[in-house]
Amino acid sequence: MKIAVVLGTRPEIIKMSPVIRELERRKIDFFIIHTGQHYSYNLDRIFFEQLNLPQARYNLEVGSGSHAEETARILSGVEKILNEEKPDIILLEGDTNSVLGGALAAVKIHIKIGHIEAGLRSYDRQMPEEINRILTDHCSDYLFAPTEKARSILLGEAIPEDRIFVTGNTIVDAVYQNLEIARERCHALDDLHLKAKGYFLVTLHRQENVDSLPRFTSILEGLAAIADRYQMPLIYPVHPRSRKRLEEFDLKAASLKLIDPVDFLSFLQLESNARLVLTDSGGVQEESCILGTPCITLRDNTERPETIDVGANILAGASPERINECSEIMLGRDNNWLNPLGDGHAGKRIVDILEARL
Ligand code: UD1
Ligand code: UDP
Repeated sequence: MKIAVVLGTRPEIIKMSPVIRELERRKIDFFIIHTGQHYSYNLDRIFFEQLNLPQARYNLEVGSGSHAEETARILSGVEKILNEEKPDIILLEGDTNSVLGGALAAVKIHIKIGHIEAGLRSYDRQMPEEINRILTDHCSDYLFAPTEKARSILLGEAIPEDRIFVTGNTIVDAVYQNLEIARERCHALDDLHLKAKGYFLVTLHRQENVDSLPRFTSILEGLAAIADRYQMPLIYPVHPRSRKRLEEFDLKAASLKLIDPVDFLSFLQLESNARLVLTDSGGVQEESCILGTPCITLRDNTERPETIDVGANILAGASPERINECSEIMLGRDNNWLNPLGDGHAGKRIVDILEARL
């Protein structure tokens, strides 16, 4: 069995890491194709180094561009490599342009596809990720659904039952494998002069939020209001897309402490010690739920409803009033929910299934 792992962005590197570790442990023949969609050191290399991942055999260096440009470069780059390497299967994780490009390349030349984190739906077709998810799921042969809910969504879209496997989400594995190391090795709190439960953590990078001046402005207004109301520092590691927009729109964000994106261990430490997380990230909604930190999602919908169902998460959209109202609700909640996203063995389960069937 020969496997090609295709990845290209920060969350894919983090969430694929438990699977890569398992492939290495079992000495399975695999190689990594990095699309190069993310290329800045603190969005890319830092995670390979920190998570001790093997170097990619190929880096397509597609860089940034429009959706069509990124996807097209990935599609033709991945196809060329797959034709040369002829793997039995490619593994993809999530919903980025790298995932869609990899899926389209493989399906057209009849190479099997395993999609990790299959079956998530926001039912919002304005999100580029929603299109990527749907198309990738429908190209895939092995759909690794994180939850029963994701499985039933796939069944509802007429995906044959024997292609769907509920494995849990690999982010649970990644958190469990790294949290203790983060506790022992990280000084992020000290470096930022923060006290446990004495700050809120913010991430905000979605195209629909930060590329829209009114929406980005409205969210920043809401964040400023809660910083003032609770007299809490708001720490915001700024994604490069958002950094670019803050500069273009000349937005000040004076009530937030803006820092560069941090490494995974530092981020885990910041998340687990925050009093509240406010985010539009998929991975951060999941991690805060796993870590027992209440989360406010700065979006109108989520493809991670399990986190809301257990009481770990709430949708605030972009209105300052609603952000304020949600902060009051979430600060008043107990954090004794059970993690609905998996038991930390998703990577092992995925590789078991591949070994049994290929
Ligand atoms: C992408 C994914 C998004 C995911 C996010 C994870 C798609 C459609 N979007 O969004 O689902 O949540 O990654 O972080 O695939 N940039 C850099 N350095 C980099 C990469 C990007 O400076 O290493 C800047 C560039 O100005 C670029 C912008 O960020 O134009 C956006 O990058 P892009 O990869 O297109 O989308 P993301 O917003 O990162
Ligand atoms: N993350 C990180 N450093 C940061 C911000 C986030 O390591 O400064 C990690 C976080 O732990 C999570 C992942 O990045 O695992 C989420 O990625 P992102 O928000 O970029 O993408 P999404 O999950 O929304 O696709």
